[in-house]
Amino acid sequence: MDPQVQAVVLAAGMGTRMKSKVPKVLHPLGGKPLLWHVLHTLDEAGIEKRAIVVGHLAEQVKAAFPEEKNWFLQAQQLGTAHAVAMAREFLAQAQGFVFILYGDTPLLRSQTLQEMLALAQETGRGVLLGAKVADPTGYGRLIRNEEGLLAKIVEEKDASPEERAICEINAGVYCLPKGNLWALAKISNNNKQKEFYLTDIVEILAQAGDNLAIYTTPDPDEILGVNSRRQLAELEAIMRERKLRELLDSGVTIVDPASTFVAPTVEVGQDSTILPFTILEGETAIGEDCIIGPRSRIAGSKIGNGCRIQESIVLESVMEEGVSVGPFAYIRPGTIVRQGARVGDFVELKNSTIGPGSKVPHLSYIGDCEIGAGVNIGAGTITCNYDGVHKHRTIIEDGAFIGSNTNLVAPIKVGQNALVGAGSTLTEEVPPGALAIARARQVNLPKKEKNISKQENP
Ligand code: UD1
Ligand code: CA
Repeated sequence: MDPQVQAVVLAAGMGTRMKSKVPKVLHPLGGKPLLWHVLHTLDEAGIEKRAIVVGHLAEQVKAAFPEEKNWFLQAQQLGTAHAVAMAREFLAQAQGFVFILYGDTPLLRSQTLQEMLALAQETGRGVLLGAKVADPTGYGRLIRNEEGLLAKIVEEKDASPEERAICEINAGVYCLPKGNLWALAKISNNNKQKEFYLTDIVEILAQAGDNLAIYTTPDPDEILGVNSRRQLAELEAIMRERKLRELLDSGVTIVDPASTFVAPTVEVGQDSTILPFTILEGETAIGEDCIIGPRSRIAGSKIGNGCRIQESIVLESVMEEGVSVGPFAYIRPGTIVRQGARVGDFVELKNSTIGPGSKVPHLSYIGDCEIGAGVNIGAGTITCNYDGVHKHRTIIEDGAFIGSNTNLVAPIKVGQNALVGAGSTLTEEVPPGALAIARARQVNLPKKEKNISKQENP
């Protein structure tokens, strides 16, 4: 986007209608705070110069966005125009056009910002984002003049019954040429709420012959604001539908959209299939030709092409190409499962690497462990990685075979191609190629002796 564009985002409001201890703009939608979505839209539109006005629980909001530089404090929430005025210093430096937007309209699309800017450049006028909606309740109503330009905005609380019936509403996004900013200083709090309404800028500019033009969104969903938990839930549903539609259109099969949840931050490759009751969250990327689900949850993970993940949880981990996981596996953060490896049922992995083609097929806990290529881990193998104070690593080299029900007391290393007898509790290193057995020898007591001991000890 034109470098002569900047934005002011208003996020100081109490969010009283949310009835929450958490500032409104930090409530999550699609797994990310409301304000994140607005900032992301600005990123997509290439608007890097921006100021954010915070007030209610300002420190908490700022801490959630450590990369943002221009914060302005509105100590008392005296209205949206008062909030903009807090960014005075930032506005004084502005060149070209300034967008003003609200932190509680997370569905806004970057394309809309681009269209608004184009209209502003073409007409030389400020542009307001409007929408035609079936139910205008709660929004400011747009009053047009004879030429179809904006004459004024009337807030619902101040509207007459005729004005209330207007279904064209203010979405709360403004694209103003720098030359319009003088009008901010003229806004008063002369209304029922005794608030400084940003919307009054429209009438002030109109009186100076500088009416704003209206850009009407083709997608009225995008202007929806979050003022209550009900609206938050409604937007979650819309966002989810948008994402599922996008995936379906891009060549992903979703067997049951009604039970599938995919965050907007997730990518899924072509010809992958998502089975019912599956949740994909955070920065997750799934490759092509995968089958994911049913009943799986994957968060913050990278899944390669051709993987099969069923009835399992995968958190902040990497599955390379052709990996099979589950059913009922729990893969915790920091795990890498290399190409073609298999993680079977009732297996927990944590902070471990499973080498290419290796198998952990059943009933194991593998934590802080490095497993090489072509290793077979027998059922019930446990890495004893924690001595009560510290965590220790286990290393199992290429081609090793660990017999069932083995305990590996870390720190420990099992060398290349070594063999470990079932039921062993290993406390010492196994050299490459060796056979290690660490268990008590079986004793079979003859029947007679057994009877005697019974008599002695009734
Ligand atoms: C506002 C608009 C309304 C529009 C609607 C769209 C005004 C006066 N009204 O109403 O015309 O239809 O948005 O969603 O602008 N804020 C501050 N400081 C304040 C007050 C608010 O930073 O003193 C912030 C809030 O955090 C919020 C945004 O401004 O992000 C909008 O405030 P809100 O109270 O939600 O306005 P609405 O009643 O929704
Ligand atoms: Ca609002």
